[in-house]
Amino acid sequence: MTVHTWPQLDGIAYGGDYNPEQWSRDVWDEDVALMREAGVNFVSVGIFSWALLEPREGEFDFAWLDDLLDLLHAHEIAVDLGTPTASPPAWFYATYPDARVVTEDGTVLGFGSRGMVSHSAPEYRAAIERVAGELARRYADHPAVVLWHVHNEYGAPVSDDYSPHAVAAWRLWLQERYGSLDAVNAAWGTNFWGQRYLEWEHLVAPAVTASVINPAMKLDWARFTDEQLRACYCIERDAIRAHAAQPITTNFMAHQSYNTDLWKWAQEVDVVSDDHYLWSPDPDAHVGLALSADLTRSVARGRPWILMEHSTSAVNWQGRNIAKQPGEMHRNAFTHLGRGADGILFFQWRASRSGAEKFHSAMLPHAGTSSRVFREVTSLGQHLGALTDVRGSRVTADVAVLYDWESLWAQDLEWRPADELGFRERMRAYYERLWRDGVTVDFAHPEDDLSAYRLVVAPASYLLTAAAGENLTRYVADGGTLLVSCFAAVVDEHDAVHAGGFGAPLKTALGLTVEEFLPMRDGEGCVVELDGHELTADVWSEDLVLDGAQVRGTYRGGPVDGAPAITRNTHGDGTGWYVSSRLDVEALAPVLAAVYADAGVKPADRPEGLEIVTRHGEDSDFVVAVNHRAEAAEFPVQGTEMLSDTPVDGMFRLGAGDVAVFRTSPARGGDL
Ligand code: GLA
Repeated sequence: MTVHTWPQLDGIAYGGDYNPEQWSRDVWDEDVALMREAGVNFVSVGIFSWALLEPREGEFDFAWLDDLLDLLHAHEIAVDLGTPTASPPAWFYATYPDARVVTEDGTVLGFGSRGMVSHSAPEYRAAIERVAGELARRYADHPAVVLWHVHNEYGAPVSDDYSPHAVAAWRLWLQERYGSLDAVNAAWGTNFWGQRYLEWEHLVAPAVTASVINPAMKLDWARFTDEQLRACYCIERDAIRAHAAQPITTNFMAHQSYNTDLWKWAQEVDVVSDDHYLWSPDPDAHVGLALSADLTRSVARGRPWILMEHSTSAVNWQGRNIAKQPGEMHRNAFTHLGRGADGILFFQWRASRSGAEKFHSAMLPHAGTSSRVFREVTSLGQHLGALTDVRGSRVTADVAVLYDWESLWAQDLEWRPADELGFRERMRAYYERLWRDGVTVDFAHPEDDLSAYRLVVAPASYLLTAAAGENLTRYVADGGTLLVSCFAAVVDEHDAVHAGGFGAPLKTALGLTVEEFLPMRDGEGCVVELDGHELTADVWSEDLVLDGAQVRGTYRGGPVDGAPAITRNTHGDGTGWYVSSRLDVEALAPVLAAVYADAGVKPADRPEGLEIVTRHGEDSDFVVAVNHRAEAAEFPVQGTEMLSDTPVDGMFRLGAGDVAVFRTSPARGGDL
């Protein structure tokens, strides 16, 4: 069997989740006609259809799905066929009550919504293997099916499970990982608070207790949960692969996911796909979107990926669900495309009349085809139809940002020196600085080979293994520039403080360690003086012990008035920078400017809010421009604007809120 690594499609994939089981058969005919009108060539079906496909345990009814796939194929709409395992049917809960999820506080989760039952329950695992296998057996050769979509958003809406099945699996997992109880006790430091285990049966799940749970136990629990979810994915994937050659994916949630270590997950899929929803309280949510797209491309190791879901307008699950402005959907879609997506899909095709998501926007809204949203959807379909040649082209970057889910899990545990110093907020602050400077970045794991990058930025490396410390030190010695933000390299993989003091694994690269963390009270703050700039810092400062590093920025006020705040160290052929306080996006500007100069990175010379990313193809480059500004912006470019098929030779004026894509010659174009 020759397994495909990308869906067999003629163009950029365009469409969305399609849930026709919510509609009568005559509506399906209208749907496919309107899909064609909107330029849709690809839909995801069956994601929540278990109750229809297997109405009673072991009894399958595929008639409606046969009809649907034939109809879609007749209209040249390709299918991403979902396995329905994110929403087991009522019979499953009734037949296997022990397979229900138990939450941290002992609540047993019931039926009536959606969500996985216990991912450790043997009955669930048997049922998903059966339904995925039956689907694959039936549709392996259906010409409409070009991709398999396993489950839906692993980790949502529940991931942690404290049921008896999970606890049994947890004990086995610990036995495999550590081999002996002595090793578990050593890794978790159980002599603290007298938590020593002498019997495997005494090991419990880290559920609600009187005070803070052993953090190393909790960190292992996060690893265990991630692996249990991934094991379920692999069961389904293998059941499909036994029959079918189409590529297999599952939809990730990149920066919005918590329980899935996507570096590991991405190795198990043929095609990386991702869901992204704007966080509407954030006025610069498009920056978070760009971060998510870059992270998705990076876990895909640069290969094209599919935006499996986003929204045409408002979602329905935020406190106040803000509709997208005219043009915003285009800008969102083109940012994803510019950052490597070869598929642009939505949740969902037709807005549901019933159920929990009836106020969620869709490609075909309740208002019908005479609506702004449908007009924009149709126009986006036309635009993407003109971009077939962009497929397969790649984004490259000189700068890597370190991202490690294990560090996120560890930093988010309880009883930290300051809760406000978070993994995600630091990641966003540094990413946003780079974004505003027009510097395209990849994300990387701290143990990756980083030699291709001029600059490596570590915004949130609280957990850093000794191996990662050696990797980063070697990177600097070999000529790289490393920028590390505060509260870094504090603990190892067991959340134990590194011997040698805070930051010890990076001592050689940065020329310092940290003697004491010095959080500040609300409103206290301080100033960091750097190259004549007065940078406002809040929440966090540190008392540094320099061992070779030069002082570049100095604290004024705060707990260590006059002490070093920002340092630069030379080690081998490279440089290690350290920022010991929490600086916001504005304050990071002069810091990054100095670091870029060391690294030989050139920030873009263009107005802030004009987002430009280049995708490199075999014979051409494709320059994707998105103007987030309220006014037009001009920039130099030579080539053809592909959406309007217009030659451009010199300056191009991109209207307020508009998008454009240019085909340029690689020799003349390159990264703008
Ligand atoms: C998630 C789910 C979809 C839908 C959307 C709504 O991404 O995968 O089924 O619920 O959220 O935003």
